[in-house]
Amino acid sequence: MSNAIILLAIESSCDETSASIIVDGDVKSNIIYTQEIHAKYGGVVPESASRLHMKHIVPVVEEALQKASIKKQQLTAIAYTQAPGLIGSLLVGACFAKSMAQALSIPTIAVNHMQAHVLSNLIADPKPQFPFLCLTVSGGHTQIVQCDSPLNMKVIGQSIDDAAGEAFDKSAKLLGLPYPGGPLIDKYAALGNPKAFTFAQPNLPELNFSFSGVKTSILYFVQAEVKKNENFIAENLNDLCASIQYTIVTILMKKLMQACKQTNIKQVCIAGGVSANKGLREALISYSVKYNWQYFIPDFEYCTDNAAMIAITGYYKYLNQDFAAMDETASARSHF
Ligand code: KG4
Ligand code: ZN
Repeated sequence: MSNAIILLAIESSCDETSASIIVDGDVKSNIIYTQEIHAKYGGVVPESASRLHMKHIVPVVEEALQKASIKKQQLTAIAYTQAPGLIGSLLVGACFAKSMAQALSIPTIAVNHMQAHVLSNLIADPKPQFPFLCLTVSGGHTQIVQCDSPLNMKVIGQSIDDAAGEAFDKSAKLLGLPYPGGPLIDKYAALGNPKAFTFAQPNLPELNFSFSGVKTSILYFVQAEVKKNENFIAENLNDLCASIQYTIVTILMKKLMQACKQTNIKQVCIAGGVSANKGLREALISYSVKYNWQYFIPDFEYCTDNAAMIAITGYYKYLNQDFAAMDETASARSHF
């Protein structure tokens, strides 16, 4: 292992503290600590998130090293999420990575979180071939990305307002479900009829998405029904969840299909927290059969925020000798 490229990667952009070890491109560990505390506030509280990252980052890193049977002194470089995300949370990971790298006299690698979500598709086999398209759907972003090589990608479509994950979470909230509501909608949707209720779908030009109209349409419909029958939500929860999920998934898939036609690319990936959604996964599979696409879906542990995706991106950046300056700092926004 003496000449092996051994990276530690840190992810702390939102409410997951995560560390991963990657050896010559193979992920050896991926430890994720999820901050459950935010559920009771109905969303992520940035101040609490930063504090919890401070508390958990050392044990999470120790566990990642231990699970991979790697000692700190063996590390070649340290990769960290530089942007986008909550600034206080990002700073914890960036400062930790820089301090540890300084102590070990090794370089750091700054990674863009959204690029890393796309490259989560390169962690395990089978891997897509270049060029491929990736629908990245998370709590903060909805993007269609064309990826021509590991570090050469461009956003060809995105949401002009809410992200798909927000659409799931906000819809869940108005049904009285706790945060994050996406996984709960997914769970109840499996028991309901996706055609029970119909909600407005946007008609945006090109490859852009919009979810704020859908949210309003769901809100007005539910409010009107609850006025007539106060038990409406409880009596129709499964059908409501199935119909909401069907609407969001249909909006996503229509644009993805348009992107495939426009680019003539048939290698199609999904990524981000919402790619854990069963309805989206099933829709991707059935579109792939119908339109002759080859589809790729990351393992569940690589869908929501995780450091393994930072590690794989860091690995490609390492191969390009793309290191971060020591005065590089975290940034809430990114231009990717
Ligand atoms: O990628 P991610 O972990 O964090 C961000 O970078 O935002 O995505 C979190 C989002 C949340 O909105 C959550 O509700 C959604 O992913 N999500 C799901 C499912 N699992 C997570 N949405 C729908 N169905 C799921 N199974
Ligand atoms: Zn994310």
